[in-house]
Amino acid sequence: MAAEITYDKQKQVFHLSNPFLSYLMQVDEHGLLQHLYFGKRIRNYHDGRSYPGRDRGFSGNVPSANLGEQPDRTYSKDLILQEYSGNQTGDYREAGSIIRSDNGSVTVDWRYKGYEIIEGKPSLTKLPHSYVESNDEATTLNITLEDTVLKVEAVLTYTIYADRSVITRSVKMINKSSATYYLEKIASTQIDFPKQDLEVISLPGAHVRERQIERQKIKHGTYRFESRRGTSSHHMNPFIALVHPDTTEHQGEAFGVQLVYSGNHLFSLSKDYIDQTRLIVGINDYNFSWQLKGNAEFQTPEVIMVYTDNGLNDMSHTFHHLLRERVARGKHKFAERPIVINNWEATFMDFDTKKLKSIIDKAAEVGVEMFVLDDGWFGHRDDDTSSLGDWYEYKSKFENGLGGIADYTHEKGLKFGLWFEPEMISRDSDLFRQHPDFALQVPNRELTLSRSQYVLDFSRPEIVDTIYQQMIKILDRIPIDYIKWDMNRHLTEVWSNAYSPAQQGEIYHRYVLGLYELMGRLVERYPNILWEGCSGGGGRFDAGILYYFPQTWTSDNTDAVARLKIQYGTSLAYPISNMTSHISESPNQQTGRNTSLAIRGDVAMSGVFGYELNLDELPETEIEQVKQQIKFYKKHRKLIQYGNFVRLDSPFEHNSASWAFISEDQKHVLLFNFNILSEAQPEIPITKLKGLKPDKDYIEPATSKVYGGDELMNVGLYHFPVQQRDFVSSVRYFEELQ
Ligand code: GLA
Repeated sequence: MAAEITYDKQKQVFHLSNPFLSYLMQVDEHGLLQHLYFGKRIRNYHDGRSYPGRDRGFSGNVPSANLGEQPDRTYSKDLILQEYSGNQTGDYREAGSIIRSDNGSVTVDWRYKGYEIIEGKPSLTKLPHSYVESNDEATTLNITLEDTVLKVEAVLTYTIYADRSVITRSVKMINKSSATYYLEKIASTQIDFPKQDLEVISLPGAHVRERQIERQKIKHGTYRFESRRGTSSHHMNPFIALVHPDTTEHQGEAFGVQLVYSGNHLFSLSKDYIDQTRLIVGINDYNFSWQLKGNAEFQTPEVIMVYTDNGLNDMSHTFHHLLRERVARGKHKFAERPIVINNWEATFMDFDTKKLKSIIDKAAEVGVEMFVLDDGWFGHRDDDTSSLGDWYEYKSKFENGLGGIADYTHEKGLKFGLWFEPEMISRDSDLFRQHPDFALQVPNRELTLSRSQYVLDFSRPEIVDTIYQQMIKILDRIPIDYIKWDMNRHLTEVWSNAYSPAQQGEIYHRYVLGLYELMGRLVERYPNILWEGCSGGGGRFDAGILYYFPQTWTSDNTDAVARLKIQYGTSLAYPISNMTSHISESPNQQTGRNTSLAIRGDVAMSGVFGYELNLDELPETEIEQVKQQIKFYKKHRKLIQYGNFVRLDSPFEHNSASWAFISEDQKHVLLFNFNILSEAQPEIPITKLKGLKPDKDYIEPATSKVYGGDELMNVGLYHFPVQQRDFVSSVRYFEELQ
């Protein structure tokens, strides 16, 4: 069944539908675009949601078109559910859009102008977005609203996919006048939910503690889930889900929303005085102001909205499929990703050719497939105070140059990867000495340092180009198979000498556009390179980055126990193929915790796998274990990276965690169980699998035992042999009995 968009001319109702969902809007008698419904699919709409008017104190009324006539006092913009709100014309809730005119006014009044329906899904220019590979995958509706005084149009774009429970939205502002305006706030989407009990799930965190699941009731007031750091940040991921109190992992309604954007974002949620909830999502209005000259346009980032009535796992699956199939691009998006060894936690910047070769030799011996040379190979970088911006090799660290290490790695049968931090500049760098103005800064003010470095002004195309030229010099000369793109601080003194005073509110967004431009050019020029995003671990884990780079370093925290939560939380919105996870040494460098190689392996193998330690320091017994881990991962890699990931037991709620990977054809199952702390009288959890074929039998080859699919899903399995130890894990593989 296709994605359908119908327009009922008489009722002026738009109905977007596919097998899973319906989305309804109506143009009302005042030309306002009212939101009617977003939820489970219905066949047809018959007026059940006509907004019941009522005269309410202190809520203004829309003036009548006939001068002198009393307005309808039962109609107020303050209460009706709107698709996209303006500002200061009687709706006192959070505004979806604020536009400042030359005369200082910030009033905006949107009225319906027209619509068009397009097969497929048009691309957004200069911004990452979800896409289609053929036009029958989706249908798009453009609704044009206009403010007749400003002569500005807002084109609201809705795309509905045919076989996914997904709607995407974005907005284009078109200035049809010759006046110059300032966009002070331009949301990508707004949804006004009618009264209902809603809770919000968000993913707050910090460096080395990313994407922790938080769920709270929405009460009166305004909640802002946002980043003001210039990147999407460790601190608040650009994702939320709205759910009902009884929604669980496996049942109930959920509305998942994520912004395809890597800069300052804002998800604001407010409950009004009759308990309706408004959600506004887009670029953060914090220090944002975009000069829109006569006849110019502004395109917002895209929002992806998922609906389900089958619980959070189903919401996540829909995101996972869309993100890996129609956001990620390039030849690696479905490729099995290589097992990596990264030298960072093994050597930091203190390495020479001998050390690197010994890591590579050992990696080759155990079956690792790629060696990644991390920070410290360029300029004269021995610590984090120098050389960012000088992307040429540190000659004295290499016997035969960087190319020598790349060749050696290849001779040993491994791929070669390299670390870059392209957006940064060190005070102690040739680039800074030549171009001190390249760093973001405000005249006459000191520059704030963070990790001893400054941020390049990527709002200036010539700076983006300087870095591009430096990088291609390395990439054209040295055979590089993979790049880890890091970003290790947030923005301060956000001002640019290339723009007028009136445009300084554009710099945060222009920075992101400059970043996308650079990533886009490089990805296009080097389609064979596997690119990995990183920002002090998972500080820029978003769908915008995924459009360019198919995987991201999930966290600098490699502790197995901490990673249970980080990976579990990340999976709410992002697919496993996007999440890299490595085994590091014990005690762990971030938490000081001791854990077995086994549990470190089981956690790291639940993502895109690798190692980040000195294999030379492991005893022979552990080297054997490493070889087994690698063998196991290679065998099941496809299932892990591209199967359905099912969350079964949450480490946020219990002293345990469980998850499973189930192949699309439901024939292969990998079940991971984790027990966190040992107890004197331990509870013994049961795991009930989900998503198997109830009428088929599954065999566990390791024990030759056979279980029914219905049995595994209803009776379930006890977790472990109960052990008196902290941090225990087990992995069980089942396959359908033929
Ligand atoms: C960041 C990354 C680490 C490592 C260091 C190098 O913190 O997340 O993995 O690459 O930078 O400086």
